[in-house]
Amino acid sequence: MSKVYVFDHPLIQHKLTYIRSKETGTKEFRELVDEVAALMAYEITRDLPLQEVEVETPLAKCKSYLLAGKKIGLVPILRAGLGMVDGILKLIPAAKVGHIGLYRDPDTLEPVEYYVKLPSDIEERDFIVIDPMLATGGSAVAAIHSLKKRGASNIKLMCLIAAPEGIERMQKEHPDVDIYVASVDEKLNEKGYIIPGLGDAGDRLFGTK
Ligand code: URA
Repeated sequence: MSKVYVFDHPLIQHKLTYIRSKETGTKEFRELVDEVAALMAYEITRDLPLQEVEVETPLAKCKSYLLAGKKIGLVPILRAGLGMVDGILKLIPAAKVGHIGLYRDPDTLEPVEYYVKLPSDIEERDFIVIDPMLATGGSAVAAIHSLKKRGASNIKLMCLIAAPEGIERMQKEHPDVDIYVASVDEKLNEKGYIIPGLGDAGDRLFGTK
């Protein structure tokens, strides 16, 4: 069973409050999501393996550390996932960024892939899939299936807010993928929105409606 890590860092929780507020306009919403994404990247990379190296300072040689594991790939799910990419890249600037676009088939209600572009060296990377709102979990589950089908094995899911329903579905379908989130909210409403949530993340990021 995968783990769910809820980031209770005071800065993340403080900024999340403004992100939730209906009074927060597009510009500020975008900036806050960017900042929270960077803070979450700091936390999500806590367990990256290190290797010991020797470095020569202007004064002496010493042992020091460099990242030792696989390189990182980010995969935002279009379109709201885009809002968290730049924040994460501030901390992991060498990460490659793939994209997965999905829409919901109006008849089956199942997600259908309409765009997939991933780094060519998938096997050499650990992936962070970015889906700000883990609602029913349909998109995240499908995007991760798509990544695994193409050879990815070590995957984490980063969200801003998750509903218990989405977490349950993810854990059932991808028990190997840990979930990193700023808040687990109460429930989904009948339209699939997270309550209390923040509304439509894509619309709020891009000023559409
Ligand atoms: N997607 C959103 O943007 N918001 C929700 O509440 C659920 C899904």
